[in-house]
Amino acid sequence: MIGLFDSGVGGLSVLKELRRLAPYADVLYFGDIANAPYGPKSRDELVALTLDAMLFLRDRKITQFVAACNSVSVSVIRPITEMFGGKTDNIIEMVGPVARSIARTQHGKILVVATQATVDSSMYKSTFSSYGMEIELLAIPELAFAIEQGRDEKALQKILAPTMQACRDQRISTLVLGCTHYPLIKDLITKMVQEEVSQEVAVVDPATSVACETVVRFDTTGKGQIDFILSKDSDVFRRYADKIVGAHQYNLETIY
Ligand code: DGL
Repeated sequence: MIGLFDSGVGGLSVLKELRRLAPYADVLYFGDIANAPYGPKSRDELVALTLDAMLFLRDRKITQFVAACNSVSVSVIRPITEMFGGKTDNIIEMVGPVARSIARTQHGKILVVATQATVDSSMYKSTFSSYGMEIELLAIPELAFAIEQGRDEKALQKILAPTMQACRDQRISTLVLGCTHYPLIKDLITKMVQEEVSQEVAVVDPATSVACETVVRFDTTGKGQIDFILSKDSDVFRRYADKIVGAHQYNLETIY
């Protein structure tokens, strides 16, 4: 069984891609909704939350982990050191797989939109530069939590307006959704790009690269069993889970 974790609904975008590629993978998903959003938190807070989430999953017999949250991509270093003596075989994070894939496939100017924690961590900049690529970064501080709360399209469009402006001003050709919450509204983002930006922009969801990497490196044979554990109950989460996994096709437990 694979352990996948995020601050809330965002990891469902990764789970969706994983199930598309490996429908029989068994997954235990931990959504830390009680502590969402992760984006405004400090590095120390995120390291502590990441360690807690991984120890919690390990207690449930998980040995292979997907950190389906860009905001903790840097924070996984301490758990990797403490739990696996520095070995990275048992953990997949969001940034490496998408940088590798974009290095092979995309050209032109790249803009990564993400939470403040991800932008501050410089993880995207350093990983892309290790592939010889330069990127632009833009924080959208309110977007992940607005998605987590199920805010309506009008509110989301208002939050996304500066992103469209940046795409126009900087002549962006690849827009990377560097927060796992954002692909849940990819249709809206794509529609806005088509209507408001004159040049062609490819909207990239890193979940596809991460799911591919998971299929290659982890055990995805099983029964397709999906268990959710949430640190706080959420109707929005249940709605997305019904849509992505199917109503009554999963178990959901809330712990406080
Ligand atoms: N979905 C997470 C990410 O990819 C966290 C968003 C948040 O809780 O602020 O960064």
